[in-house]
Amino acid sequence: MTQPLTLLGIESSCDDTAAAIVRGRDILASVVYGQTALHADFGGVVPEIAARAHAEKLDHCVEEAMAKANLRFADLDGIAVTAGPGLIGGVLSGVMCAKGLSAATGLPLIGVNHLAGHALTPRLTDDLPFPYLMLLVSGGHCQFLIAHTHDRFERIGGTIDDAPGEAFDKAARLLGLPQPGGPSIEKSAKTGDPKRFDLPRPLLNRPGCDMSFSGLKTAILRARDGVVADQGGLTQQDQADLAASFQAAVSAVLVEKTRRALDIYQGLEPVTPSFAIAGGVAANGTIRAGLTALCAARDTAFVAPPLQLCTDNAAMIAYAGMEQMAAGGRDDLTLSARPRWPLDQTAAPLLGSGKKGAKA
Ligand code: KG4
Ligand code: ZN
Repeated sequence: MTQPLTLLGIESSCDDTAAAIVRGRDILASVVYGQTALHADFGGVVPEIAARAHAEKLDHCVEEAMAKANLRFADLDGIAVTAGPGLIGGVLSGVMCAKGLSAATGLPLIGVNHLAGHALTPRLTDDLPFPYLMLLVSGGHCQFLIAHTHDRFERIGGTIDDAPGEAFDKAARLLGLPQPGGPSIEKSAKTGDPKRFDLPRPLLNRPGCDMSFSGLKTAILRARDGVVADQGGLTQQDQADLAASFQAAVSAVLVEKTRRALDIYQGLEPVTPSFAIAGGVAANGTIRAGLTALCAARDTAFVAPPLQLCTDNAAMIAYAGMEQMAAGGRDDLTLSARPRWPLDQTAAPLLGSGKKGAKA
């Protein structure tokens, strides 16, 4: 039996600095340093601050991951690093770190597409066979992909403007709830009435599985202003009702568009269907429940990786690098950082880029 490969993964494309060691499907160590506090005053990720923080933290992150896994560089088979897409300063910091390590140790270097890391996570966690339908849904991206092989992804739809996580964050700001907005909206919504405000379900009247979330931000602003005009302010109950109504609208759009994406995918791929999600928004209980019910009704296997593997992390980068390496993929010191790097090179460019920079 061949020994599984052991890779170090490095991720720094957005606002998390991460390193991980993965052997086969075993995560031996996974370290993530978030930067939420550094960007809190600015209402979004500031690229220069992010890049500087990555440069400061990367070495420590790698050291910590190696120590946790109790391994030496001689025990590794390769170094995988996110080479894009993302904020260029952060991606460059990671790529430089990985090149330095590769040059010093002689270990093979593998540049990984961050989105492929997310898209291959269901194989790391659940050994999901190809092909499967994937919904990537976070603060920076939102797209339906059919994963055919480790390096062939077909995009069949996506947002034409904002990513849902971005809309959650903006809605939370409008309601006076803390950032990141997704978890605080979800918490507030628990005591709210999702039917009190009739918010739109954008693009449901159009065929296909493209989505739009920017109108929902305007709609919640109007609903909030309406309550303030009537009552002179927002009570905690108003806040909860607005949060619940917003969450219900995003969930309804994602579930209905997933139904259509499943139809398209099953039309193209006459196999036992399977569907997986990734990205921070995939942590939302209401959205997960809606997708779980949809898949159960359609006899479709549903893979929802644990939260820490849905959000940005380096284990997914190490694992994606491992699949590339097993297929003979290898980079060298000419590896460059790419701010834009669509997974599906043949699909038309997406219009939206998300608050954290162009992702696809
Ligand atoms: O995947 P991620 O960690 O980073 C990228 O955007 O790449 O996703 C972060 C996004 C944020 O916009 C956050 O508000 C959202 O995911 N999020 C959630 C929840 N937890 C995180 N959105 C809805 N419900 C949640 N429970
Ligand atoms: Zn991500």
